[in-house]
Amino acid sequence: MKRSSSVGLVLISLATIVLCGLLVLFKFKPNLAPVLVDAYSPPKLVTPALTVDLGLIPMEEHVGTNLSISNHGGKLLAIKKVSSSCGCTVAKLKTSTLKAGASTTINIDMDTRLKLGPIEKTIDIDSNDPVNPRVSIKLVAQVHPTEKQKTHDGMLKVSDRLALFKGTCKTCHVDKGVGKTGQELFIADCGMCHGVDAKGGVSPGLLGLDYSKPATLAYVRGMIANGSPSNPAMAPFSQKLHGGPLSEDQIDSLVNFLQYQASVAKEKPHE
Ligand code: HEC
Ligand code: HEC
Repeated sequence: MKRSSSVGLVLISLATIVLCGLLVLFKFKPNLAPVLVDAYSPPKLVTPALTVDLGLIPMEEHVGTNLSISNHGGKLLAIKKVSSSCGCTVAKLKTSTLKAGASTTINIDMDTRLKLGPIEKTIDIDSNDPVNPRVSIKLVAQVHPTEKQKTHDGMLKVSDRLALFKGTCKTCHVDKGVGKTGQELFIADCGMCHGVDAKGGVSPGLLGLDYSKPATLAYVRGMIANGSPSNPAMAPFSQKLHGGPLSEDQIDSLVNFLQYQASVAKEKPHE
């Protein structure tokens, strides 16, 4: 009786040791499976995925994630720059030089103010990897309004519809258009969302509307001046009516530009 219980004890101890060993293995297992690197091979930047899906995220919040990157080359990997196209997404790198086999993380912070629906942001990593000097990671998410942002009539209320025109956002979304009109103004203030040729980008194309109708011109003018009631990314640009960055003349010049651009697109539909 005594003997069998001590055998049991030994078995339990053994099992515990094996379990602990497994735990240690898992704990120290890096994000990427261990790799054999050739000490003489050039630096090689590796990321676990080129698309990261943040899933369903709420409007007007900060959403973060950590991307891991590793050096699968033998020589030192030097990361020169990590950048994102929209200042609403900030990428911070923990360490910029990685020895052979080493890993680090890039911390991403996305400001979802004014965003709605599917969004896509690209994080570019520039390094001394001779084969892939720029690796781009795509961040995708679906931004949804919270209950308090929805009104009974299906419209959205956001805490600051003018956020795009303030603070750090202003440097890219307003400053380049100051004093400009027409096409130049469109490229500076609208092109980042609608495409510089108005054919569409992260936001819809604007050339499919029928600009021969006065009602369309009024609609387009109203959209630019007052913004979209259902999508806060289309902010109210009128200075007179909402404190936005554009004068009434500038808004008229944009309507004229779009009307012209649409007529050109109609003549050359295959371009
Ligand atoms: C460095 C320039 C830059 C700054 C600063 C910047 N943006 Fe942007 N923004 C862009 C560009 C370029 C796009 C076009 C989409 C893209 O490529 O990311 C964009 C797109 C957007 C969009 C369209 C929806 C989408 O796809 O994201 C929103 C909303 C937006 N920005 C909000 C903001 C807010 C809010 C700030 C300030 C916190 C800001 N941006 C700061 C350059 C900038
Ligand atoms: C930050 C991104 C962003 C910027 C900058 C932006 N827009 Fe928009 N715009 C949108 C979105 C998103 C919509 C769709 C709104 C909706 O679904 O109600 C839109 C809609 C529109 C529409 C209505 C299109 C339609 O088919 O109903 C017009 C016209 C328009 N924008 C013109 C402009 C002009 C001109 C500028 C520059 C002064 C501009 N936009 C700047 C995001 C943007």
